[in-house]
Amino acid sequence: MPQLTVENVGTFDVPEGKRLVLALEQDARIDQLHACGGRARCTTCRVEFIEGEPERSTVAERTVFAARGLTGVRLSCQILCDHDMTVRAISRLEGSGRPDPGPTPQPFIEPPAEY
Ligand code: FES
Repeated sequence: MPQLTVENVGTFDVPEGKRLVLALEQDARIDQLHACGGRARCTTCRVEFIEGEPERSTVAERTVFAARGLTGVRLSCQILCDHDMTVRAISRLEGSGRPDPGPTPQPFIEPPAEY
C-alpha cells in the first residue's frame, strides 16, 4: 500500500491506484480544493511535490498547464497513488473564499487518462 505524506499534516496509507486528489481529501483528510470535480479544468487541485513526483503526466494535465503557463506544480486529480509520495498542499478551501471544495471527483481519472 503506497504511503502519502502531506507536509505538516502526516503520513497515510493509501489504497493502491487511488486518485491523489481523493487520497488528500479522504485519507489525509485535508480541505483540498477540486473545483472542477477532477476533470483537469480548474487547476485548484494543484500540489507541490517534495518527493516521489510521478515522471509521467496526462495529456490533459500538460494541456491545462500550457494554457495557463503553470510550472512547478502538479494536478492531484491527474495522478494515481501507485508509489510513495510527499506533497505540499498549497490549494485548500480555508482562505480561498470559495463556499466548498468542489464536486467530489470520480474514482477514475477524467478525462480518460492518456499519457
Ligand atoms: S483540475 Fe480541477 S480538480 Fe483537478
